[in-house]
Amino acid sequence: MSVLGKIQQPIASELALFESKFKESMKSNVALLDRVMYYIVKRKGKQMRPMFVMLSANVCGGISESTYTAASLIELLHTATLVHDDVVDDAYERRGFFSINALWKNKIAVLIGDYLLAKGLLVSLDNNEHRLLKITSTAVKEMSEGELLQIEKARRLDIKESIYYEIIRKKTASLIASACSAGAASATKDESLIETFRLFGEKIGIAFQIKDDLLDYGDEDIGKPLGIDIKERKLTLPIIYTLQNASNADKQKIINIVKNENKNKAKVDWVIAFVKQNGGIQYAEQKMRAYQAEAFELLNQFPDSESKNSLIELVKYTIERRK
Ligand code: IPE
Ligand code: IPE
Ligand code: MG
Ligand code: MG
Repeated sequence: MSVLGKIQQPIASELALFESKFKESMKSNVALLDRVMYYIVKRKGKQMRPMFVMLSANVCGGISESTYTAASLIELLHTATLVHDDVVDDAYERRGFFSINALWKNKIAVLIGDYLLAKGLLVSLDNNEHRLLKITSTAVKEMSEGELLQIEKARRLDIKESIYYEIIRKKTASLIASACSAGAASATKDESLIETFRLFGEKIGIAFQIKDDLLDYGDEDIGKPLGIDIKERKLTLPIIYTLQNASNADKQKIINIVKNENKNKAKVDWVIAFVKQNGGIQYAEQKMRAYQAEAFELLNQFPDSESKNSLIELVKYTIERRK
């Protein structure tokens, strides 16, 4: 059985039910929309966020009807942001196949993302889940802020480590935080417990994005483009660390390539090799593990259970995954 398969064991039937609800919420009467939705549903991702929703709910008292709504809403929002993100990043591959913008162009991709977002909001309204709507709308707002902050920094190439964390906390960790807190909120009224899960999700989310940025430096097939971050002038933790510690001459050389020659494969490969030789990867791995450790710490207070154990394994998977 796969690592994810094992993690899913305590919530296998619940996840199956989630998937049928999720598919249902993707249907549309507009032929073009329905075609695109069919394409998206067929190439599903790892579904880590619904797993975080459900496992968090179980650790906080048990999965309820609200938990399913939360899982569907969050996976819908996640999918919407991926469709938009590929437009923003000019990325033509997603989940091992063509991205929506590669197949249908940007105009349609933007509208598909909006449609998914609206569908998600409706799922929670239809179920009278105002609390959930609040938790997730905050995340959506922060994701947009994070992506915009990233664009601003990519223009000026003046990113500091602290700003990097702010970007990834907003663009990625906020949604994972909302997955965990919404899961908790679907199972308990204890506000401090809900806050603990939000914080837990935030730590994991930061580790998750550091891992994603590390995967971009690798050469294994991850189902999406490799080395695209430098191409898009996105400075992530490995290169930020390297720049902080490089001589002025090397710094100038790297910045110049990222700024003016970021489509030149040989030059970009040189930058990647330089980052690898100068400890950028190890540094990012170390930070990623530190965030993971903080997340584990927060789980200590809960009694052992199958779901807690799966949650621990899912946190491990977050940084060990190969795609
Ligand atoms: C990708 O998320 C987007 C990021 C925040 C890095 P996932 O890696 O969870 O994407 P899927 O859903 O499994 O494709
Ligand atoms: C995360 O950033 C994107 C979102 C928050 C949607 P990336 O641009 O690095 O994500 P991938 O690598 O395209 O999945
Ligand atoms: Mg991207
Ligand atoms: Mg990425």
